[in-house]
Amino acid sequence: MLVDDENDEIIIAVEVHGVKTEAVKLVDDFLLIKGPYWNALFGIEFMKKTKNTNCLVIARGIAQAPAVLAVNYLLKNNNIVDVIVDKGSTNTNFIKYYTRANIISDKLNLYENKAQQLFKDSLESVNYNIVLICGSNALQKEVLTCVNKYSNANVVLSNNKEMCCGEGICGACVVNNSSGIPIRSCKTQISYNN
Ligand code: FES
Repeated sequence: MLVDDENDEIIIAVEVHGVKTEAVKLVDDFLLIKGPYWNALFGIEFMKKTKNTNCLVIARGIAQAPAVLAVNYLLKNNNIVDVIVDKGSTNTNFIKYYTRANIISDKLNLYENKAQQLFKDSLESVNYNIVLICGSNALQKEVLTCVNKYSNANVVLSNNKEMCCGEGICGACVVNNSSGIPIRSCKTQISYNN
């Protein structure tokens, strides 16, 4: 989630869901981490060209983890970054803790109707150049509907596929594009054009 150069620390966020993540939780000596693979987000091309403008980030639960680096990257490029956070089951606002972004809200459940109103109000009140959505596919779908209705922003999405090898070999991360062609999402960028 974050590299702290000054203190020689790599900060990772793990949500325990099953045997593998439980094993990570139990580690008390050392942990071998392979990576990074640089494909946690779809739409990196939009991130790279976003400078001196307004950005909206919507992140829920453990999917805040890829958002932290992205928010800091956008801030470094002189953007104003507004964030809507739903802490979800993590019960933690990582974005507030690890970035200096402007938190619009961190109290709402983003699956509730009130959140739709907040998305609408935010998208109508500011001319966002980019909207980054880090959350489940269901949440991404909800937010995309709003973005399509109320904004012309480019959209960047968290890559939610399970990763195994991360090398483009095993096929665990395959998604099919609109033509049905399988794409290994650990290695390939997919863009959503608004
Ligand atoms: S994770 Fe193995 S091919 Fe992508």
